[in-house]
Amino acid sequence: MILTVFPQKTGLRGEITPPGDKSISHRALIFSSLASGRSELSGLLESEDTLATLRACEQLGAVIERKSGRIFIDGTGGDLQRPSSGTLDMGNSGTAMRLLAGVLSGQDFDCRLSGDKSLNSRPMRRIVEPLRQMGANIEPSGQGTAPISIGASNGLQGIEYRSPVASAQIKSCVLLAGLYASGVTHVQEPRLSRDHTERMLPVFGVALPAACSVTGGSRLKAAKFDVPGDISSAVFPLAAAALIPGSEITLRHVGLNPTRKGFLDCLEEMGADVHIIGRYEQGAEPAGDIRLLFNGPLKGIDVPESRVPDMIDELPLLMALAAAATGVTRIRGAAELRVKESDRLAVMAAGLKILGVELTEYPDGIDIEGGEIGGGRVESAGDHRCAMSFAVLGLVADASVDISGAEYIATSYPGFRQDMQTLGATMNLDERT
Ligand code: S3P
Repeated sequence: MILTVFPQKTGLRGEITPPGDKSISHRALIFSSLASGRSELSGLLESEDTLATLRACEQLGAVIERKSGRIFIDGTGGDLQRPSSGTLDMGNSGTAMRLLAGVLSGQDFDCRLSGDKSLNSRPMRRIVEPLRQMGANIEPSGQGTAPISIGASNGLQGIEYRSPVASAQIKSCVLLAGLYASGVTHVQEPRLSRDHTERMLPVFGVALPAACSVTGGSRLKAAKFDVPGDISSAVFPLAAAALIPGSEITLRHVGLNPTRKGFLDCLEEMGADVHIIGRYEQGAEPAGDIRLLFNGPLKGIDVPESRVPDMIDELPLLMALAAAATGVTRIRGAAELRVKESDRLAVMAAGLKILGVELTEYPDGIDIEGGEIGGGRVESAGDHRCAMSFAVLGLVADASVDISGAEYIATSYPGFRQDMQTLGATMNLDERT
């Protein structure tokens, strides 16, 4: 599908509630499915990625029912059933695959995890290594990628794992395997990655013996859980409003976890006028409403490397913003972007060049010179966040921007176009490819 975005003549105005947080929704589905009893989830994201997790949970024995906007899950009590086909399809979702690989390493049946072309080319050794240290029978495909085969467990041992990468998927995978291991499992990482697993396990009745640790044999209990809105989706309308003169928008019920706030910090440093109005707890997470008023042209910044894990999913959007700001924006220490749903440095660089942006790409980052944005046709390369980043930039281009592969937006934000239209943007979707 092609999304065509037209230059925006008037400011964006109004308020919207972004969809539920993707990371938290995956965890809410998995934890409820592992728990004993009936969990009740509200605010859950229902996108391609989380529906892949939901279907996998059903195949593993959870009974899931939708009723008046809520999801009720009768959990398995922790002992899952072998999926009848033997293979679980995780679609495009790295989080689903890596978290479930941890859980499945502790089960007494064999199983295979597969995904789409993008997911089957992403690195899995990063989870295979620690899981093998724990005693898992796990085998990736030839290049250390998915599909992954997991044999029936002969028992796992708890480990002290020092992760080379600040990755919440690695951390969560090891901690979830640790629930099925003997003794305590502890994960250390070079910098704190998003900590939803650690915040949510206690809600589902699992006390952590120390930070980032679990005790083997701990069992989850059903919970009532309200998923906050996804900051990683909220940033798209926020960025658009920061670029378009006369904008004034409010985003309701957005998760404000400190491990996810790097993009908001960058927005403010670039000169945007951002206000958090009202702060509260939602689903074991800090949350609040975000209001943004257009505040003049944005200026380029040097993104501190230490901030990269706190905005890893927002870096494609920051590249788009940088292209429309004044001066140079520098991003380094972001080599992880090359192994996301696409090589996000390469995909953004290619699209930005088509729109006339001056840039220099590095192995772990990019320098972008802000300036005029031209029209043209760019490729999402099957990556939801790149597609939406180009869509935001299209609103301030000289001519319309066509984004191909726009169907991938449904990976995380199926209502993106409708929400942007609610705020006054013009975006047309053409079913043809
Ligand atoms: C996620 C962790 C991050 C992030 C992904 C979601 C999670 O990946 O990019 O979109 O839910 O744990 P890494 O753990 O690979 O950094």
